[in-house]
Amino acid sequence: MNELAPLYADHVARCCETAGEALASAGLEQLVIYAGSEHLAFLDDQTYPFRANPLFKAWLPLTQHPGCWLLYTPGQRPVLLYHQPRDFWHLPPADPDGYWVEAFDLKVIRDPAEITTHLPEEVRSRCAVLGEGVAHWLPEANINPERVLNVLHWHRARKTSYELACMRAANRRAAPAHEAARDAFLAGASEYDIHMAYLQACDHTDDELPYHNIIAVNEHAAVLHYQHRDREPAPRRSLLVDAGADVAGYASDITRTWTVDEGDFAGLLAGMESLQRGLCAEVRAGVAFGDLHRLAHQQIGQLLKDAGVIRLDGVSAAERGLTNYFYPHGLGHLLGVQVHDVGGQQADPQGTAAPPPDDYPKLRLTRRLEADTVVTVEPGIYFIDLLLDELQASELATEVHWPTVERLKPWGGIRIEDNVRAEPDGHENLTRAWLP
Ligand code: GLY
Ligand code: MN
Ligand code: MN
Repeated sequence: MNELAPLYADHVARCCETAGEALASAGLEQLVIYAGSEHLAFLDDQTYPFRANPLFKAWLPLTQHPGCWLLYTPGQRPVLLYHQPRDFWHLPPADPDGYWVEAFDLKVIRDPAEITTHLPEEVRSRCAVLGEGVAHWLPEANINPERVLNVLHWHRARKTSYELACMRAANRRAAPAHEAARDAFLAGASEYDIHMAYLQACDHTDDELPYHNIIAVNEHAAVLHYQHRDREPAPRRSLLVDAGADVAGYASDITRTWTVDEGDFAGLLAGMESLQRGLCAEVRAGVAFGDLHRLAHQQIGQLLKDAGVIRLDGVSAAERGLTNYFYPHGLGHLLGVQVHDVGGQQADPQGTAAPPPDDYPKLRLTRRLEADTVVTVEPGIYFIDLLLDELQASELATEVHWPTVERLKPWGGIRIEDNVRAEPDGHENLTRAWLP
C-alpha cells in the first residue's frame, strides 16, 4: 500500500474535477454518493455479500463500509460521513485510518439516515444523489441523474496514476494464485481444490474476489462462465482459470489455459498464446477497440484453419460469421472498480450510445482507446455443443472438419486474458509483468 499513498491526492483531485464537470452538465451544485446498504435474503436475517456502490469505490478504498456517504461541492473539500454503527452483534468498522483519510473532512455517523441532518432540505433539489435505495431518505433530490452518470462513467475509462498502481498490484496479487492453480491441476487436484489453492495463494476469501472464479477442467472450459467446483478429480486434460484479485477496490481479470497433453489441443493453445500476445501489442491510444475485435476474429479464423478445424481462411471465416461459433464473446472490456467497467458503449461524456456492430452484438467495448485506458484482451476458442449443433444445421456446416472438432471437444476450450493499458505510442501489459 506504500506505493499508493503518494498518488492518492492527485486521484482525489481528478475525482473532484470530473464531479465538477458532471454537476455542471446537469446544472446541479452538489454530488452525494451513498456507499450502499447490506441486503437481506428474502424472509431471512442473513445478508448477501456486500458490494459497494462502484461510484463510491472510485473515490476511496472503502469496499466494506455500508452506510457511508460522500458529499462534494465544487471548490470545497469533499466530506465523508463515516458510518460506524453502535453494534454488538457485528464488529463495527475501525476508526478511519490510512492514506485516504487526509483527503476528506470526516464526520462519524451512527446511522445512514443521518444524511438528512447533514443535507438540509432546501439544498436537496440542487443535489445529484447517486446510489441504491437513496430515495427513501432524500426523495426531493435528483436521484441517479443520467446526465451526471454519463460524465462520470465516461471518465472512469482513463485511469489516474493511483488507479494504475492499484491495478498493477491487483495483477501482482493474482499472479502467484494462477501459478498455484496450475500446480494443483498438474498434481491431479479437483476443481474445488484448485479453487482453494487459488484463494490461499492470493490471500482472498470468496467474497473478496472481484468476480466468481472460473475453474474449469476439461469440457467445462467450454462453458464461458462455468460456475461450479467439482469435488472429484477428473482425468487431467486441460484447465481454464479465469480469476482475478482485488487491491483497494480495483480488479484484475486474468485467464490462463493449461494442458498436460501434446497434440492438436496443445498446438491450438500455442497458436492462441502467440495470437493473444500479438493483439496485446496492438493496444495503444487512438485504436478503435472494435477494429481489434475484428482482427481477433480474422486471426482466430486463420488459427482454426491452420489447425484443420475449418476450411475457410481467416478473413472469409470472420466475414461469413463462422468464427462466431467458436468465439462467441467480445475481445475485452474496460476494467477498474468493476470487472466489466461502465462506459464501454458510450461515444462521448454526454452519453451518446456507441452500440456494438450487428455482427458482434456481444462486444462490450466500442470506444476508441485513450492513453491510460485499461482493457482486457481475451481471445478464445471453444467447443460448445449448443453452438456446434447450430453450426451443423447451418449452411456453414460444410466448411467445418467435424472429425477434428470431435477430437478436440474433450479439452473444452481456450481463453487467454491479460489486462493492458493503452499508452500514447504503445501499451503496458499489467499482467505479463507478473505472470508469463
Ligand atoms: N471474468 C469475466 C471476463 O473475463 O470478462
Ligand atoms: Mn476474465
Ligand atoms: Mn474479462
